[in-house]
Amino acid sequence: MRMELPDLTGKVAVITGASRGLGAGLAKDFLARGMKVALSARSPQPFEDGEHVLTRQFDVSDPKAMAEFSSAAVAQFGQIDLWINNAGIIHPVVKARDLDGPALYQSLDVNVLGVLYGSQNFVRHVESRSGEGVLLNISSGAAYSGMSGWAAYCMGKASVDRLTETFQLEEAEHGVRCYSVAPGIIDTDMQAQIRDCKEEVFPNVAQFHEYKAQDLYNTVRHVAKHLLQMAFAPSARPDTVSARIPAEKG
Ligand SMILES: NC(=O)c1ccc[n+]([C@@H]2O[C@H](COP(=O)([O-])OP(=O)(O)OC[C@H]3O[C@@H](n4cnc5c(N)ncnc54)[C@H](OP(=O)(O)O)[C@@H]3O)[C@@H](O)[C@H]2O)c1
Repeated sequence: MRMELPDLTGKVAVITGASRGLGAGLAKDFLARGMKVALSARSPQPFEDGEHVLTRQFDVSDPKAMAEFSSAAVAQFGQIDLWINNAGIIHPVVKARDLDGPALYQSLDVNVLGVLYGSQNFVRHVESRSGEGVLLNISSGAAYSGMSGWAAYCMGKASVDRLTETFQLEEAEHGVRCYSVAPGIIDTDMQAQIRDCKEEVFPNVAQFHEYKAQDLYNTVRHVAKHLLQMAFAPSARPDTVSARIPAEKG
């Protein structure tokens, strides 16, 4: 079904994890639609700061830096309409029995706590102003079922789904609509890291080489269109908080 997007000129979106991959692609797509974007990642983002763009470098697991970023976005743009917690990491890819130490904590810090901190700032912002705001937390198919070698990633993304459902229950009355969205597979650095995994720790690796060989990826354009429809096209609102973007090909 074709769902038209309203004119999005001037709408403001925050995107974390915008130095490359899906986040940078979404930012480019949104800017081309006349939107304004506040972007973050640890490394520089491929956009110049200006009237329509604010960039910041920080780790999403730093709650103080996240709060400063949110305040800077509101100071520059007046309000935030859409907040996308997109920053995420796949590693460590090891058996669950061997999960331990800094790599495990970093995975949960980024994939779970980073999403929590971003969501907290956004819902406080929406409550402080009039009108609706949309929170999109980028999840994964890994939230729906376990995958050998991906225990850290699976538990992080499953947590994102439950966390987002909880925000929806608590914040709907303040005008926030929340979705946790599995975007399908997109050919980013994360997919290259997955294909580099050894079969001993990630037995499904051949399947990911096959995705590459057959180019079964969702384009960023496809993902962007679906995310924007969820946020701004009333007829495209998912029935559930945890939602999946349909495969574009295959
Ligand atoms: N690609 C896929 O097929 C796929 C499938 C399902 C779900 N996803 C999800 O989609 C999202 C984007 O993934 P991607 O494929 O675009 O990955 P990517 O190419 O590896 O990009 C990840 C982004 O997250 C940022 N990031 C990582 N750790 C960070 C930290 N501690 N603090 C701040 N930013 C951090 C990275 O920037 P810096 O390194 O510069 O900080 C980068 O901009 C992730 O949540 C991922 O789990 C991807």
